[in-house]
Amino acid sequence: MPLNIIVGAQWGDEGKGHITDLLAAEASIVARYSGGDNAGHTVAISDETYKLHLIPSGIIHPGVLCLVGNGVVLNPAVFVREMNGLAERGIDVSARRLKISYKTHLITPAHIALDKARELERGNEAIGTTLRGIGPAYTDKARRTGLRAGHFADKEALADAVYEHIVESNKTLQNLYQMEPLDAEKIAAEFTGYADRLAPHLCNVDLVIEKAIEEGKPVLAEGAQGTLLDIDHGTYPFVTSSAPTAGGALTGLGIGPKHVDRIVGVAKAFTTRVGGGPFPTELDGDAASRLRGTGENPWDEYGTTTGRPRRVGWLDLVILYHARRVNSLTEFVVTKLDILSGFDEIPVCVAYEFDGERIKHIPADLDQLGRCRPVYETVPGWQEDIMQARRLSDLPANARRYVDFIAEKTGVPVSYISVGPAREQFIVQG
Ligand code: IMP
Repeated sequence: MPLNIIVGAQWGDEGKGHITDLLAAEASIVARYSGGDNAGHTVAISDETYKLHLIPSGIIHPGVLCLVGNGVVLNPAVFVREMNGLAERGIDVSARRLKISYKTHLITPAHIALDKARELERGNEAIGTTLRGIGPAYTDKARRTGLRAGHFADKEALADAVYEHIVESNKTLQNLYQMEPLDAEKIAAEFTGYADRLAPHLCNVDLVIEKAIEEGKPVLAEGAQGTLLDIDHGTYPFVTSSAPTAGGALTGLGIGPKHVDRIVGVAKAFTTRVGGGPFPTELDGDAASRLRGTGENPWDEYGTTTGRPRRVGWLDLVILYHARRVNSLTEFVVTKLDILSGFDEIPVCVAYEFDGERIKHIPADLDQLGRCRPVYETVPGWQEDIMQARRLSDLPANARRYVDFIAEKTGVPVSYISVGPAREQFIVQG
C-alpha cells in the first residue's frame, strides 16, 4: 500500500528527519503535512549534516519528489534561504522536484511580530513558542484572512493582499501591543520577489499524490513536531497550532485514509520537550545533564531551530500509549538508544498516579496532568557504547530488553532503533 506516515510520538525532536531519510530511499514522494519552520530536521550523511526546517527531508535523495502540503505554514524568506543553501551544496531544488501546494498558508513578518508580542504579553504564562509566527499564521488561516502560496501566481494581487494584511496587522501591533508598525510597502515588494522564485513550484499537491498512489508509487508523509504538541490532542495550550498527528497528515495533504499502510511513531528512548507546560518524568541534576549532552554535538538536546536547551526526562509510556491511540500506530522507531548507555538502571514511567488512583492516560485537563506523578518500573541498564551496533544481536542483552519492554508495554512493535546520528547508525528489527 502506497501511503506511509511518520509522526512524532512525544513532544517533537524525536529524530523524525533521520527515519524519514531512511524511508525516503524507498519512496517516490516525500510530503510535509503540518507545521512550518518551527521544525528542525537533522539528517547526517557521512561528513555532511543537513538541517532542514521547511523543505522535506527527502530532498537529500536525488530521485524523490518533495511536496509541501496545504497543512504547512510557509515563511517564503526561510524557504528560499533553505533552497539556496541546498543548491550551493549541489542538491537539486528545481521546480521539477520541489513543489508547494497552492493552498499552503504563508507566514509574514507581521505573524512573527505578533507571535513575539503575544509571548511577551503572556509573561510567566508564555507558551515558549519558537517565535516563527506559526500561531498567528494558523490563526489567520482559521479566521479566513490568511495569505496562501497560490497568491504567488498573480503578483499584482499578491502585492495588494500582502499590503492590506500588513496594514491590518499594524493596527493590532500598534494599538494592542504598542509596537512599531511594519513597512507594508516594503514587505509587499519583498513578497513579489518571492513570487518570481516560488510561482514555478506551485502545484495541486492532492492531485500529484492521487496520481502517484494510482500508479502504485510509494508516498511518505513527513510529520513535524509531535503528538503532544497537537492542537487538539496535545498538552493544550502548550502546543503548536497545527495537527502533527496522523489525522493531520490526511487533511494536511488532501488524501483520505484508505491508502494508508504504515503509521510510524518516532519516539526517543527518553523524553524531551521545549517550552512550557507539564512534564511528569522531567529530570534535573546529573541524569538530566547526561541525557541532554553538552551542546557540542548537533544531536545534543538543544533546539535545532532556537538553540534552547531542551527539558529532559525518563521515557514516559503513558505518552506512547496516547500516541498509539491517537495515531493508530503500526510501529515505533526508537531513537537515541545510545544515549542511555552507562546507566546502571533505567526508570521507565508505565502509569501515572493521580489523586491516589493509577491511570494510564493523559488527563485532558492540564492542572490534572500537573498533579500526575510517574509510576516507574526499573529496567536494568547497560554500560557498553552501542553506537557501532548495526544488528540486533550487536546490542547488549539489556539494551534489547529495554526495546522489548517498550514493545510489550505498548503492544506496538519496534521496527527500527537508532544508535547515533549518522544515516547508517540504524538497526532494523524485522
Ligand atoms: P510554535 O509552534 O512556535 O507556536 O511553538 C509552540 C510550542 O511547540 C512550543 O512549546 C515550542 O517549543 C513547541 N515546538 C514547536 N515546534 C517544535 C519542534 O519542532 N520541536 C519541539 N518543540 C516544538
